[in-house]
Formats: sequence, C-alpha cells, structure tokens
Amino acid sequence: MEIKIFRCQICGEVYVGKKSPATCPFCGVPKSYLVSGEAWKNQFDIELSQISKDNLLKALALEISNMEFYENVFKGTQSMEIQSTFKGLFKVEREHASVFRKMLKPGADPQVEISLYKSDIESIKESSEREKRAVDFYTQALKESTEPFLRTVFGAIMLAEKDHLALDEQMAEKIEITA
Ligand SMILES: [Fe+2]
Ligand SMILES: [Fe+2]
Repeated sequence: MEIKIFRCQICGEVYVGKKSPATCPFCGVPKSYLVSGEAWKNQFDIELSQISKDNLLKALALEISNMEFYENVFKGTQSMEIQSTFKGLFKVEREHASVFRKMLKPGADPQVEISLYKSDIESIKESSEREKRAVDFYTQALKESTEPFLRTVFGAIMLAEKDHLALDEQMAEKIEITA
C-alpha cells in the first residue's frame, strides 16, 4: 500500500500513513474530516458575525480551561493509565484552543480559573462535567452560527468532546471495578 498524506480540515495538521486513522490524531475529530493534502483548503480566514466572535472567545476560554485542568491532573496523578489518558486529552484540548486562536486572529488569551488536582475519582468526575458542558456549549454555538466553516468546526469539535465523555465513562467503570 502506498503512503498517503491526510490533512485535517478542522485543525490543519498533517498525518502521513497508509490509511486514514479513525480520528484525527491531533484534534480528535472523526476521519470524515480528513482530506487529501491537495483537497485541503485554508478556511480559517473568514468573516465572522459579532455573535460568532463572542462564541469563539467563549470556546477558546473553555478549551484553555479544560487544557489546564487536564495538565494539572496528569501531573498530579500516580496512575499511569490516567496520566496517559489525560495527557492525551490535554493535547487534544490544546489543539482545539489553537483552532479558535487561528480564527480569532491575534489577541490575548482569556483569563480562566485554575482547577487543581484533587484525586483520580474527583478528576474523572470533573472531566465528565467539563465535557458535558463542552458538548452543550458547542450544540448551542452551532445553532447560533451561520458561517459554513464555523458550523463545520463547532460540529466536529463537539463530536471530539463526545468521545472524551465516553472515555470518562470507561475510566470511571474501571476505577469502580478496581476500588
Ligand atoms: Fe484535526
Ligand atoms: Fe476540546
């Protein structure tokens, strides 16, 4: 099989391989958003309505807050499994934040509240609350936006957050089994 170039229409990152991964290895969106290198279009530079700008700022704050939360958890936990899972989530949320930064153009990052590591169980609970909030937010933001590319981005990132929610459920089950 020949080596192909896949490029994510949401985050813009490039993946090289024989076949498409199930999800983007960088931003976690389903593989339907991965296109060939030649088919990829730069759509980050679009005109935005005021409500879309406001939603993008809220989205950026949400992603930075979740990213910092996951960073505190993977640095605080003693469990190798949680460390690896949450470090992965940290990287995905960091990628989401960078998508929104690209669409918002240069500006200072919004200030967010810091959430410190408490325990593994508390972290999984907090993670699933955060991911639920994210899914709800993107569902609402999708309804409020009219720009086609922005709608694609909000819809795709919502699917990535839904996957995170499923991951939290799996981790919670495992912890309950071993506790
Ligand atoms: Fe991506
Ligand atoms: Fe995210």
